[in-house]
Amino acid sequence: MNFYPKNYAIALQKISFHWKSQLILDRISFQVPSGNIVSLLGPSGCGKSTLLHIIAGLLQPDSGDICIHGEEQTNRTGSMGYMQQNDLLFPWKTIVENAALPLVINGIPKKKALQKASRCFPDFGLEGYEHYLPNELSGGMRQRAALLRTYMMDKKIILLDEPFGALDSLTRKKMQIWLLDMYEMLNSTIILVTHDIEEAIYLSDTILVMSALPGKIIHVVESTTPRNKRKKETYLNNEMLAMKKEIVTLFM
Ligand SMILES: Nc1ncnc2c1ncn2[C@@H]1O[C@H](COP(=O)(O)OP(=O)(O)O)[C@@H](O)[C@H]1O
Ligand SMILES: [Mg+2]
Repeated sequence: MNFYPKNYAIALQKISFHWKSQLILDRISFQVPSGNIVSLLGPSGCGKSTLLHIIAGLLQPDSGDICIHGEEQTNRTGSMGYMQQNDLLFPWKTIVENAALPLVINGIPKKKALQKASRCFPDFGLEGYEHYLPNELSGGMRQRAALLRTYMMDKKIILLDEPFGALDSLTRKKMQIWLLDMYEMLNSTIILVTHDIEEAIYLSDTILVMSALPGKIIHVVESTTPRNKRKKETYLNNEMLAMKKEIVTLFM
């Protein structure tokens, strides 16, 4: 039994995972302080999504422990908000029905669930689009709707797997600014998976850099620019550029 202080929302201790005798994750250990945004940054195929699946409790690791708020937990399914990579909205449901789904699943009557979800639409920049279908919205709006659905899960820990991966670079930038703005309201801890270095630098308090397969943490970079200052930076400032250089060098 490992002990971690309760002010760590999540702590991983030597998580390893094999797939068909191939080592995918190699003794991954890290701690995420409550209220922080931590990114897992690594090349495609290095096991980032696999690791989020394990953290969410959808896959069991071969070895290692995970503590949530200082307590070791083996059954974590449903205890976190999880936006999976390519987690699409149901195309036949309206945006508000999609957003209300986690509430309905939790047994809240549909009418009440729809009302509760509707109240969040202005904050997510979706007011007026409640009764649209997903394919009637832009890519950025669909992502905000998917984030709203994750938010409706009402969990203190949120896992986001490449949430802006499918967006063009300008929309992606806008969404990053929006996410930092929203973060105060979310009042949670976020683990964000990305393969985009600038996205990781812009959004994270800490970046955990992963190697190519087998995935392991090869470097930890703490942000030198506070979150509320990062929000105002349209371009990478000198400290952020230094972080980028530090990370790129690891892969050269
Ligand atoms: N259920 C699975 N089916 C197929 N391949 C898997 C499965 N689980 C893990 N893998 C392997 O794990 C590796 C990492 O995949 P993934 O976690 O999706 O990487 P990333 O998200 O970093 O791109 C892949 O190379 C894949 O071969
Ligand atoms: Mg992935």
